[in-house]
Amino acid sequence: MAKRFSNKVILITGAASGIGRAAALRIASEGGSLIISDRNIDSGREVAREALERGAPAANTIAFDAADAQSCAEMVDQAVSIHGRLDCLINNAGVLKRGHFLEMTAADWSLVVSVNLTSLFHIIQRALPSLISSRGNVVSTASTAGIEGISYYTAYAASKAGVIALTKSLAAEYAPAGVRFNAICPGRVRTDLGAGVPPVRDANPDIVVRPSKLLGKTAGAEPEDIAGAFAYLASADACFTSGTILVVDGAQTAG
Ligand SMILES: NC(=O)c1ccc[n+]([C@@H]2O[C@H](COP(=O)([O-])OP(=O)(O)OC[C@H]3O[C@@H](n4cnc5c(N)ncnc54)[C@H](O)[C@@H]3O)[C@@H](O)[C@H]2O)c1
Repeated sequence: MAKRFSNKVILITGAASGIGRAAALRIASEGGSLIISDRNIDSGREVAREALERGAPAANTIAFDAADAQSCAEMVDQAVSIHGRLDCLINNAGVLKRGHFLEMTAADWSLVVSVNLTSLFHIIQRALPSLISSRGNVVSTASTAGIEGISYYTAYAASKAGVIALTKSLAAEYAPAGVRFNAICPGRVRTDLGAGVPPVRDANPDIVVRPSKLLGKTAGAEPEDIAGAFAYLASADACFTSGTILVVDGAQTAG
């Protein structure tokens, strides 16, 4: 496989499992030096070990809490200090809460917006000077929910719409500095994201999300189906791509 990430340092949040893990391992196989940050550091270390096996020259881990501003800033400082540079930041850590809007608590709303959106403010602001130095790029994981909305997932969809708007705004503002900003909108992917989150009680079947029919994956894509999109946007192959919101949903939302 082509080594698009030789001599590149990639910081990826939420890479201890699911989509982030798959993206990290894909970039590892293309020679990237990885910094894996997650609140779940035991699984993060396991992903780092796998990344080294796949060909990453280096794979470090940092424990952090995306819901905590100071933790976000310290995580970035630590990441930049490891190799003294940063070429790509992948904002991927995320949580969801679901349920009828009238029953949503303010605490649940705050947690989802804090982890999925406000953390990007803290992390990008801290990382940007390094990314300007390297003329690097940022890839953030949004969701088709952020484009279309999704019943019963109001806070989640609103947070992802925020990621999309933040991405486009920063792409325009920092194009003169040579820093690219893009976002990926997966459709349904088979990960642990909903693990431990109770299903919606009395959900109306007429307003639940449509399945993708591509490749027969009606229960959702595998994380590896999304990984190539991260590698593309993070790499020099996407050198003229900025402000792009790339939907990777197997035609789930098409038609
Ligand atoms: N699975 C899907 O169907 C789907 C669809 C569209 C977008 N996404 C997005 O993809 C991203 C990855 O999710 P996933 O589906 O791989 O789920 P996942 O649960 O496997 O991965 C999420 C990761 O984020 C980490 N994380 C959560 N809260 C954190 C916090 N406060 N601080 C630090 N790390 C934290 C978790 O430990 C985990 O490693 C998320 O942003 C999610 O919203 C997922």
